[in-house]
Amino acid sequence: MKREKIKTLLLSEGTDREVLVKGWVRTKRGGKNIVFIALNDGSTIKNIQVVADVSGFDEALMKEITTGACIAVRGLLAGSEGRGQDVEIRAESIELYGKSDPETYPLQKKGHTMEFLREIAHLRPRTNTFGAVFRIRHALAYAIHKYFNDKGFCYLHTPIITSSDAEGAGEMFQVTTLDLGNVPRKEDGSVDFSRDFFGKATNLTVSGQLEGELGALAIGEIYTFGPTFRAENSNTPRHLAEFWMIEPEMAFYDLDDNMDLAEDFVKYLIRYALENCSDDLDFLNKMINRDLLERLDFVINNDFIRTTYTRAVEILAASGRKWIYETGWGKDLQAEHERYLVEEYFKCPVILTDYPKVIKAFYMKHNEDGKTVKAMDVLFPGIGEIIGGSQREEDYEKLRTRIQELDLPEKDLWWYLETRKFGTAPHSGFGLGFERFVQFVTGMANIRDVIPFPRTPKNAEF
Ligand code: 4AD
Ligand code: MG
Repeated sequence: MKREKIKTLLLSEGTDREVLVKGWVRTKRGGKNIVFIALNDGSTIKNIQVVADVSGFDEALMKEITTGACIAVRGLLAGSEGRGQDVEIRAESIELYGKSDPETYPLQKKGHTMEFLREIAHLRPRTNTFGAVFRIRHALAYAIHKYFNDKGFCYLHTPIITSSDAEGAGEMFQVTTLDLGNVPRKEDGSVDFSRDFFGKATNLTVSGQLEGELGALAIGEIYTFGPTFRAENSNTPRHLAEFWMIEPEMAFYDLDDNMDLAEDFVKYLIRYALENCSDDLDFLNKMINRDLLERLDFVINNDFIRTTYTRAVEILAASGRKWIYETGWGKDLQAEHERYLVEEYFKCPVILTDYPKVIKAFYMKHNEDGKTVKAMDVLFPGIGEIIGGSQREEDYEKLRTRIQELDLPEKDLWWYLETRKFGTAPHSGFGLGFERFVQFVTGMANIRDVIPFPRTPKNAEF
């Protein structure tokens, strides 16, 4: 007999048929004669109720069916008289795959803190909350590919090991096979990377953008979707050392086209989640964040505000607030500023453009004023920056000058510069931080709780 998933079983029409389900016991209650088992197999947040007539089963087996145990149940799918479910399974046979010691199973009772659940990240997917979050995460990942595929974008796989620093911020994890206890050195005492695996110094990528641009200047519209790594020592609810990023890159797009795409893209994804993850979203709305569904609806139904960095700085100065981080033209915006603009001033997602060149990466296209660049950051309620992007500098001389001004290693970027020498074209792109977006869609307060196994400073367990 073929096992059915609880999700399909609950959606199927008709009862009074033999079924086989397999899953983990959430609760067992009942008494001497009859027990009720709530069984969950992860396919849906809903449990199926299994009803077992104690007299028909071995007593020892019944004892071992405890919270956390894994079982297979064969029985009759029948209409349920009890409250809370339409159907139930009247068990005919139960096979115990794995027992779970009630004394030591950590997920006995409800209401564990998120901090505690992080310590048992190997078991937390078995909770309602994390099951919901990871199913929504999956649905969004699928929707991302669907969105771009339907638009004719090509999924370009950019490298994870690179020798360049795309953002020029020096926040990279080094990759080496050198013996750290006996590092080969050159005469001047510096590390001799010619003896390393790749014959040069390499690191984990901070962004696939530079390689993405190479793709856009040939295939037209591409996107990447992969892990990226930042060795920044940020212990905040919005930073991970390993996170996933979606980076579309498009030839012949200017900054306005770029903003239009970003806005359409995130609205599509939210709509997709609302249409396909309603059980999980309803649960999170009830248990995690009471404003969640309202906030999602608000974002899909309103135009994002578009304004400049310069105006934002004026608004912040006029706010009369005392900030932890100083503001002023030329200073980067911090989460507190971004959230003020979004949550209190505009009360709407905001796209800020035309940032000072000094606080943005080398590849952004300069404006005529000589001071600002064609950058765009999309700011979301509760999160702050969710997307960073720009129109790219397509002029060879200007780009080279900027690389030199910033003292970046020009010789390592020869291939990037060559695209500006041979058939350069106006082009733009952006990066959406996947976990920050999943945070927004699920309402989870901490970014560590939207990725199965978070990597943060001093933490690489599991
Ligand atoms: O603004 P960032 O650094 O931009 C880039 O990497 C560009 N190369 C993107 C592009 O134009 N193709 O990062 C993009 C987004 C941020 O807006 C944020 O959502 C997310 O990536 N992000 C992080 N998410 C989690 N943890 C971190 N440490 C993050 N750093 C950036
Ligand atoms: Mg940014």
